[in-house]
Amino acid sequence: MKKSSNPVCHNRRAHDIHAGKYEYKHSEIYNEYEQSRLKRELSEFLANIPENQPLILDLGCGVGNLAIKLALQGAKMVGGDLSENSLQLLKEKCRNAVGFAVMDAQKLPFADNTFDAVCAYSLLHHVPDYLASVSEMLRVVRKGGLIYLDHENLDSVFSPDADMVEYYKKTRKTIFRKLNELFVTGDLFSTELYSSVFKRLFVNHRHKREGDLHVFADDHVKWEKVEAVALERGCRKLYVKDYLLYRPFGKDSVGLHKKYNQKLADMRTLVLTKCVPETDNF
Ligand SMILES: C[S@@+](CC[C@H](N)C(=O)[O-])C[C@H]1O[C@@H](n2cnc3c(N)ncnc32)[C@H](O)[C@@H]1O
Repeated sequence: MKKSSNPVCHNRRAHDIHAGKYEYKHSEIYNEYEQSRLKRELSEFLANIPENQPLILDLGCGVGNLAIKLALQGAKMVGGDLSENSLQLLKEKCRNAVGFAVMDAQKLPFADNTFDAVCAYSLLHHVPDYLASVSEMLRVVRKGGLIYLDHENLDSVFSPDADMVEYYKKTRKTIFRKLNELFVTGDLFSTELYSSVFKRLFVNHRHKREGDLHVFADDHVKWEKVEAVALERGCRKLYVKDYLLYRPFGKDSVGLHKKYNQKLADMRTLVLTKCVPETDNF
């Protein structure tokens, strides 16, 4: 996997480069609002697992958004990611409370039925064959175990109604904020930024700096396909929650979120359980 045109290599390189600035750059995730929502969601998720100290794989764990919260709530965590730099930061942050290994989500280095649960937050759009990755998660979770998927790209993002367009417009990052972010992260002075812009303009108009793949109207992560793979493999939906991601931009972002959250959703949390089948599915 040497070619930089290989999406897996591009993802690894991009996340290695951005690991140290990931939290700052992703203020839509690393803000009080979204962090509190996630903590609540993860507690509810853990309440569905009978073990006191379940063994959980956080796939595409990055710098530990889910892994650290779950470890703090008593889970034995393994973080898996392509990016060694992200895993190194995770290791430093949690002082080895989380085990970790470099891996490609499309082919997991674990035996069948290893984990009590597998979770992935904002991973699938990076994975060339994201359905293979879902299959792998289902393979390595034990029978009766759980899968937690949190992801955007509901169809509503790609064919937004007037309210959604309005919400996005009101919470858009200003040019000043974008420039400031590039300045603070040092990206403004990095050749990588300009080579990315060049690639996007002249080589591949779908090139994304952070290796996003399935984020286009004609090719985005489809929840129906994820569910179809899960059902085929003998899983059942435990619960699903749609929500509107809080965007900490614009004036009165809290008030705006409260208002639009009542009628809009652009994210989904899906929790599946691997049923104990009469005949072995795997
Ligand atoms: C958008 S970040 C999300 C990180 C983390 N889950 C969070 O909630 O902040 C996507 C992560 O997936 C990882 N990733 C991308 N492609 C992957 C693959 N094929 N296998 C494993 N990890 C991958 C990236 O390195 C990155 O850390």
